[in-house]
Formats: sequence, C-alpha cells, structure tokens
Amino acid sequence: MHMKTVILEASKTENITLCADVIKGGGLIAFATETVYGLGANALDEKAVEGIFKVKGRPFDNPLIVHVASVDDVEPLVSSIPDVFKILADRFMPGSLTLIMEKSNIIPDNVTAGLDTVAVRMPNHPAALAFIRAAGCPIAAPSANPSGSPSPTKAIHVLSDISGKIPYILDGGDCIVGLESTVLDISGDVPRILRPGFVTFEELNDLLENVENPRDVLSGKTDIESIEAPKSPGIKYRHYSPKTPLTAVVGLPDDTAKYITSRMDNDTAALMFDDYTFSHPNVVTYGNSRDYSAQATRLFDALRTLDTLGTTAIYAQTPSENGLGIAIANRILKAAGENIVEVD
Ligand code: TXA
Ligand code: MG
Repeated sequence: MHMKTVILEASKTENITLCADVIKGGGLIAFATETVYGLGANALDEKAVEGIFKVKGRPFDNPLIVHVASVDDVEPLVSSIPDVFKILADRFMPGSLTLIMEKSNIIPDNVTAGLDTVAVRMPNHPAALAFIRAAGCPIAAPSANPSGSPSPTKAIHVLSDISGKIPYILDGGDCIVGLESTVLDISGDVPRILRPGFVTFEELNDLLENVENPRDVLSGKTDIESIEAPKSPGIKYRHYSPKTPLTAVVGLPDDTAKYITSRMDNDTAALMFDDYTFSHPNVVTYGNSRDYSAQATRLFDALRTLDTLGTTAIYAQTPSENGLGIAIANRILKAAGENIVEVD
C-alpha cells in the first residue's frame, strides 16, 4: 500500500484530532515524544498493531511499549500494580522511563510478543500526551525507524525512513532527549534495568535503593553489549546502525581522539566530541566530551549525517561509562556490532 505521507504541526488542535481519528480507525501515526519519534497504533487493536510490525520490518518476537496519557490509565493494562510503581510514577510519569509489569488480558499477544509482561510509558511531551488523550486509547509504539537503523529524532528523519507507508507524522519538534527511554523491569522482586536510557541507574537507585545495576552482571566492564540484558528481547538484534561500518573507539577522550585522527583519510569519517573536532571534511560532532545530554540529543542525527558522506568507514569517539554516558556508549557499541577498539 502506498500513500502520501504528510507532516502535520502538532501545535494545531485540528492536527491532533486528525491523527487521533486515524488511530481510532485502526491506522498508524508517527508522533513526537521527548525521547525519539514513535510509530503508534491502538494498543488494544491487534490488527492495527500488526501494521506497526509490517511498516518497521520488526521481528514479531520483539515486544512494543504501550504509551499512556495519565498514571490512572496504567491500571487496566496490568494484572497488579507492583509496590514500587507509585514511587516511580510520582517521579517519572511523565518521563523517559518504561516500566515492565505483569500484563492484563486486554493486551493483545502481538503487543507483548507473547510474554506475560507489558512495557508501559507516559511520555513527557505535551503533543504526545494530547494525541494519546484525543485517541482515547493506549498507544503501542516502537521507535519510528525501520528495524535496525538509528531512531528518528526529527520529523524529517521519519519522513525519509517510512514515507509512503503512513498518512501523517505529528511534528512536535526535534526530540529534546534524543535517546530511547530507560527500560526497568519491576515485575520481579528486584527492579532491574533492561535497557539503559535517559533515566540513569544512579537516579533509580537513589530512589529505590536496590536496583540491579546492569554492570553488576557484566563479566568484563567493556562488555556494554550485555547491558541490554538477555531478558529484553531486543538484545539479539543489531541496532541503531548506519549503513557504513562504524567502529566504536573507547577510552579517554585524549586517547580516542589521537587514535581516530591518525586513521583519517578521504574514505573515512569521524564522530567526535565538540572539544576534540579537527579540520577534515568528514568530521561530525555531537556535543562537548563532558556534556552527555547534548551527546544524547545529537547522536542519532549525527549517525544519519555520517551515513550520507559516502565513506567506507566511520570512527566514533565513545563516552566513558557513567551516568547518562552508559546509555550513549550502549547505542554506539550496538551500532558498532563487533567493531570495538579500546585505546589507552
Ligand atoms: O523512548 C522510547 O522508549 C521510544 C518512544 C517511542 O517511546 N520507544 C522505543 O521503543 O524505543 P522500541 O520498540 O524501539 O524499544 C522497546 C524496547 C525493546 O528493547 C523491547 O525489547 C523492550 O522495550 N520491551 C518491550 N516490552 C518488553 C517486555 N514485556 N519485556 C522486556 N522488554 C520489553
Ligand atoms: Mg527502537
């Protein structure tokens, strides 16, 4: 099926209504959230949800996040509310935190890929909340990119990725966070991070005190791949990758910069911190080495830009692994696959 895809300004009420009507009719809408753009459908409509998997080329065994517009809308989606839910909801609903809980039977099987748990998030973006409210149902939405490629952080990213496959993109501006939400499993005895994201381990552990730190389960500290833990079905798929092979260069910024500059020629490109940029046509920067939130905001757009340069290799300066740096390093290492170099 081919249709013309139109970008609609989310600040106009009639556009929110138009997109909500598409959802009510069983269709798909791409919409802005504070993390990344999502590709949404009525989470309670199995057939509509099937459309998401088709448009994304997403494997059916990778479950979706269900988005709500208020804390009260969570209860019907789950079989019981865990004790820690209220503490987390008070702080992070709305917010860039996705909670995994035991599902209720109103959730179709394809949303959860057959698991007995469901992922729920309330986005911290006024347009997303207005859209979900107007649709009158929870919205299942993965990131709005084709499976495997960098997540979209601008409406034009979505247009270039899936134009012709959906009617509208609800444009709420560029995503401020720029990285996907943190996924926290609270269905068991100990809250456990399944995917690092904008909400850090430190923040969660300050609040709950017994959060399982993904690094505790690592055999080697450099094996950030295993941070998106085996329990999160997304782990086995290559993610966030530009088409050009990318090498993650891990170490202190002085050392990674030295390594990368020594390898540059006309056919190579580099992703550098602002304070380590150098004069070369194929250098793209993504924020100061100490400014993780800038790096998060700019990373996926930078990966897309690097992919347009027509080089045969990309080297990426990768932040060290604390706080939000873990989530950024996680995305770069996943984009790199096996191509990881440690320098010191
Ligand atoms: O910020 C975000 O989370 C964005 C915006 C659109 O909300 N969404 C997003 O969705 O990143 P997606 O589908 O790209 O990533 C969802 C992640 C996957 O790693 C998936 O495996 C995991 O959440 N997930 C979903 N349901 C799960 C469940 N029941 N148990 C464990 N992991 C689950
Ligand atoms: Mg995704």
